[in-house]
Amino acid sequence: MRIEFQTQNIADVACDLLACPVFENHERELLKILDHATRGVVAAVLESGEFKPELHRTCLIHRPARLKAQRLLLMGAGKEREFSLARLREIAGIAARSGRQAHCKSIALWMRGGFPAAEAARICTEGLLHGNYESEIYKTRDIETRAVDRATLLADTRARRHEAEAGIQRGRVVGDAVNFARTLGNEPANVLTPAELAERALAEGARSGLQVQVLERDEMEKMGMNALLAVARGSVQPPKLILLRIPGQKPARNAPLFALIGKGVTFDSGGISIKPSEKMEDMKDDMAGGAAVLAAMSAIAALGPRHAVIGLIPAVENLPGGNATKPGDIVKSLLGKTIEIINTDAEGRLILADALAYARSLGATRLIDIATLTGSCVIALGHINAGMMGTDQEILERLRSGAKITGERFWPLPLDEEYRKSIRSEIADMKNIGNRWAGAITAGKFLQEFAEETPWTHLDIAGVNLEHDGQPYAAKGATGFGVRSLVHLLT
Ligand code: BES
Ligand code: ZN
Ligand code: MN
Repeated sequence: MRIEFQTQNIADVACDLLACPVFENHERELLKILDHATRGVVAAVLESGEFKPELHRTCLIHRPARLKAQRLLLMGAGKEREFSLARLREIAGIAARSGRQAHCKSIALWMRGGFPAAEAARICTEGLLHGNYESEIYKTRDIETRAVDRATLLADTRARRHEAEAGIQRGRVVGDAVNFARTLGNEPANVLTPAELAERALAEGARSGLQVQVLERDEMEKMGMNALLAVARGSVQPPKLILLRIPGQKPARNAPLFALIGKGVTFDSGGISIKPSEKMEDMKDDMAGGAAVLAAMSAIAALGPRHAVIGLIPAVENLPGGNATKPGDIVKSLLGKTIEIINTDAEGRLILADALAYARSLGATRLIDIATLTGSCVIALGHINAGMMGTDQEILERLRSGAKITGERFWPLPLDEEYRKSIRSEIADMKNIGNRWAGAITAGKFLQEFAEETPWTHLDIAGVNLEHDGQPYAAKGATGFGVRSLVHLLT
């Protein structure tokens, strides 16, 4: 989609669809303009109750009498004092998706809300790209919508063009990165194996300049990554450890080195502790954390990182083959701590344990892991907030406060020492599951054993990696959750 910036009067914008956000309150002035433009249609749809400017409601008006646009889309934006960049992004997404559904080639979006043009243009670009995305690469027929080719962002002030255009460029980097993560997440597990994920990382590296290195099984064996390797044993697909670096980057003395670590389970059957078949297909997106790290690293490299940062993606397939790890098996992790594997379905923490230890051995001083780790987190927070925990207070706070910009919400869970009891093992240093209670937290306590004293943040995205219903601003399927937050933290 081509995206450009204009300060034109809305009446003069020639396009297939002009999208206009409308707030719930004090919009007399705007409504008068729109009513004039449509020769009374706007007053009619408001009076009849067909349209109310509640958040995410829309109304499409064809052939507005005094506009050059073919259609006028009224988009409810909710209460003006509750408006945020996160909401503006959703509104832009709705504009693109509505354009798609109406087979419009060109749309224009009036960037209302009073944000500086550069910010607004960046966020709207992200939203437009998000809304215009559809995962239909495997559809050979019955494609019902058509991607929008061209979007114009309209500012109601005389905003500075070069600033807005720079905003569009940054928004495109981030929006494309999120869609890249979504595409990886939507790939079926017969296509996206650990080896294929590594190939996609290498291809992305060749495209963006990100430095990509892939560690093979024999190298991991030599190093002693037995927790990671234990998960891969049941599959014929070889494990890969994908390492991402930004070329030319060397942390200054005493400056932190961040490591972003993403769970890359390309399919999670549960292994010998096999999952019920209901919704097991969703486990093709158990590499959502890994996809977020790959996409975010690529965007961070393009935008210019604020801190030195590396990325790690342990990629494995968790299957119950003849060589698979069995409940009760004990492994010695890279860090040297031994783990009694009680449940082979608690595999994410095993691969992350070795990846955390490895990141520290590479010199990382601040760790951030992101993973579809526990069903327990979904029970606790549903599909609205991701769980977050850890020891790096600054990062935890910046993630939470960033939500009104990124639109990605995180809610803290505690890590009191007492929670550790339930992962104590009789026979090894720890076991890989606790009792039934606080499963998201005991998973966090397990990971903490491998971060040790290094400041660390754990993001459990199990409830937010998939869009189940579809939204007016986003297609069903993988959400790319985490990409925007990681980019926000590191740039
Ligand atoms: N990948 C799953 C977690 C998950 C569940 C993600 C639902 C998305 C939606 C993870 O590997 C898992 O199986 N966790 C188990 C842990 C349990 C065995 C302690 C879980 O949460 O049930
Ligand atoms: Zn899993
Ligand atoms: Mn599992």
